[in-house]
Amino acid sequence: MRWFLPSPHNWGIGMNNDYILEMEHICKRFPGVIALDDVQLKVRRGTVHALMGENGAGKSTLMKILIGINKMDGGNIIFDGKEVQIQNTHFALKHGISMIFQELSPIPHMTVMENIYVGREQLSANRIFISKKQMAEDTANILKKLEMESINPKEKMVNLSVAKTQMVEICKAISYNSKLIIMDEPTSAISEKECDHLFKIVKQLTREGVSFIFITHKMDEVFKLADDITVFRDGKFICTELASNMNHHMLVEKMVGREITQMFPKEEVDIGDVYISFKNLTKKGLFENVSFDVRRGEIIGLAGLMGAGRTELMETIFGYRKLDSGEIYINNKKVTIKGPKDAIANKMALITEDRKLTGLYLPLSVKDNMIMPSLRRFSRGLLLQHRSIDKICNENRVNFDIKTPSINQIVNNLSGGNQQKVLIARWLMTDPEIIILDEPTRGIDVGSKSEIHKLISNLAKQGKCIIMISSEMPEVIGMSDQIVVMYKGTVKAIINRKNVTQELILENASGLET
Ligand SMILES: Nc1ncnc2c1ncn2[C@@H]1O[C@H](COP(=O)(O)OP(=O)(O)OP(=O)(O)O)[C@@H](O)[C@H]1O
Ligand SMILES: [Mg+2]
Repeated sequence: MRWFLPSPHNWGIGMNNDYILEMEHICKRFPGVIALDDVQLKVRRGTVHALMGENGAGKSTLMKILIGINKMDGGNIIFDGKEVQIQNTHFALKHGISMIFQELSPIPHMTVMENIYVGREQLSANRIFISKKQMAEDTANILKKLEMESINPKEKMVNLSVAKTQMVEICKAISYNSKLIIMDEPTSAISEKECDHLFKIVKQLTREGVSFIFITHKMDEVFKLADDITVFRDGKFICTELASNMNHHMLVEKMVGREITQMFPKEEVDIGDVYISFKNLTKKGLFENVSFDVRRGEIIGLAGLMGAGRTELMETIFGYRKLDSGEIYINNKKVTIKGPKDAIANKMALITEDRKLTGLYLPLSVKDNMIMPSLRRFSRGLLLQHRSIDKICNENRVNFDIKTPSINQIVNNLSGGNQQKVLIARWLMTDPEIIILDEPTRGIDVGSKSEIHKLISNLAKQGKCIIMISSEMPEVIGMSDQIVVMYKGTVKAIINRKNVTQELILENASGLET
């Protein structure tokens, strides 16, 4: 029995209007924050609706209300023609609303098919267990529909890449007959090819009547995919427009409420002497014979495809792994980095999203997260200088434009982009000379992106050495003095700013001979 596949013919029955979803007058307050102030969102059937806005605009909060994680303070929701009170995620799922989260949360040791069918027995009293064989067959069928035959239904979730995990989540949504699928920044960690595939599948599903709400900070994606665009700013509804009636410039203006003149404000900086040198760095299976220099005031862009070994290289340089061979020189002196402590002592900072390593401690406050690596600076004997800590943290809050009611707010309560700003502020407080940034603007809105670029440019001006991993081509090209292109763990090319083109980077990143 094919009970799980949505039948396009059913969509029309009982259809009394064009909208699958109408949210109106939605309000939501958190202590000290009005996250949503009388907003609306209307999604047409069979369309992709982009929900846009700066960090902290209220996008994720509205989606969490829709899926039953957050309770709204006021407003009404009409889904599929009926007014609904969404009490919890189970209710949402049962009625045809699925969400693919910013942070994917599969159960790692379950298989793909178990992950899709987990908890399904509870769905309806008369639906008893389905057999493993049936489960595998059904899963394989949906995977085929998504052109993901390469995924084995019996594979463990831990073994899948981010892109494949995402596809499994979409499988799950389809298996629930979802009429509306919410995707919150789904492409922030997948490659361009995987992204194209995702978009193709999304388009295909819309033709079958499924609707999507799509949240992203990548502007080009919006115009590739969206039929309609809704913009929020600071918890307020600004507009809903047909994507075809908007362009990049208009959209940015609506989002930030001001004009952004310069996206990559790279300043001309006098480049000094070589400060840090990497010579033949090798870690078996990850990278081999990597050599390059960074001069004072120089920004090195580290380009490459997912899996080229860039993050692993930087983590190893920072002491999270041991090098098999190779040398690091700082100021012409050979240094040994046995762990992150040594790296910090050598005035290095690694700014990455990875929570396990140098990332944020979500249950702690903004302040605690900021001062953690610089604690020593603020202690006198056993006492902490609370007043200076508060002062500097508040300065950071202002300088980095971190949207939070206070520095005592728990980081978990901040929007994604504002969490990233806390992370950057934290590492800059250690006063480093060598700053490694791993995808510094992932998940950051256009306005703050240009702020962060300005900041990086300023650091270079102060003579700091910057190494920036980025998968965004305009960012790499706009910001770097030299671009080191990696391919399968080796340096394929080092390209000067003067000679760089997107094609040249891509050719080298995909290992083509030039
Ligand atoms: N549980 C919570 N407690 C307190 N404040 C919260 C909570 N969740 C969200 N907020 C606040 O509500 C506002 C809206 O946050 P939200 O996560 O919806 O933003 P967003 O538009 O998704 O931003 P981003 O693009 O950065 O992900 C922010 O100011 C955020 O700090
Ligand atoms: Mg968000």
